[in-house]
Amino acid sequence: MILEACGLEYSYPDGTCALAGLDLQVGRAKRLAILGPNGSGKTTLFLHLNGTLKPMAGQVMLDAKAAAYDRAALTAWRRRVGLVLQDPDDQLFAPTVGEDVGYGPLQAGQSRAEALASANWAMEALRIADLASRPTHALSYGQKKRAAIAGVVAMRPEALLLDEPSAGLDAHGVSHLMALLDHLVEGGMTLVFSTHDAELALAHADQAALFHQGRVLAQGETTHLLCDEDLLKKAHLKRPWALEVGLRARQNGLIASDAPLPTNRKDALALLDRMT
Ligand SMILES: Nc1ncnc2c1ncn2[C@@H]1O[C@H](COP(=O)(O)OP(=O)(O)OP(=O)(O)O)[C@@H](O)[C@H]1O
Ligand SMILES: [Mg+2]
Repeated sequence: MILEACGLEYSYPDGTCALAGLDLQVGRAKRLAILGPNGSGKTTLFLHLNGTLKPMAGQVMLDAKAAAYDRAALTAWRRRVGLVLQDPDDQLFAPTVGEDVGYGPLQAGQSRAEALASANWAMEALRIADLASRPTHALSYGQKKRAAIAGVVAMRPEALLLDEPSAGLDAHGVSHLMALLDHLVEGGMTLVFSTHDAELALAHADQAALFHQGRVLAQGETTHLLCDEDLLKKAHLKRPWALEVGLRARQNGLIASDAPLPTNRKDALALLDRMT
């Protein structure tokens, strides 16, 4: 485990309880999807996983050691664990996209030339190189979202936390982003992302955690969790179409009852083709 949340409890200053004894394990170089209805505590959890918020009870473990909250520990923690906030307006602050994306690498001690190279690589990866000199405040929402992601990816964190990365991106933008994230995980990075899109979680997460009222209802293999109707109902989710096709094929004896289930549209269509 690179990161663990153990019995986290947190209430906001107005008394709203956001985390009510939350347990979560994040495996190194794995992809974990956080699923759950509005207000279930996903964003609050992310803010705990990079030390922005401190739990009122319970603890965050980093490499199996209890996290510390002094300035030096927080700086080291945030260099290793990068967080992309849900709302890009909360993340972007520099006058231009290029300066914003290059800020993190500069702060992390890279030379100007290195920081420029890191920023250029990240902007290319997020397909926003043409926006480098544009003012951040004048971008479209999806462009802001890409710039915010690029700014954190540029720092090449060991673990990347993304709060609803696909929200506001066009379909191509989502496919391209997820392919990039899969590639970074193949290179050893750890990925945690929240989403309301069960199809996205099924196709791009090894594990999923279902949140409900500040707790984790279940954490496990994504396919397994997304087959469970009771869990899906509690998490306000619909079973992904690819899984429906696979389960129906099993039920009707068209494939073996233990045959692997498709996890994306392409595999589901291939299964349908094989059946006709
Ligand atoms: N700044 C705040 N002050 C008071 N309560 C808050 C604040 N931010 C969040 N909350 C409350 O904490 C709970 C958890 O909110 P959180 O933002 O973590 O949910 P979420 O799962 O990320 O929801 P969404 O899917 O809408 O992004 C909710 O009841 C919410 O109203
Ligand atoms: Mg949220």
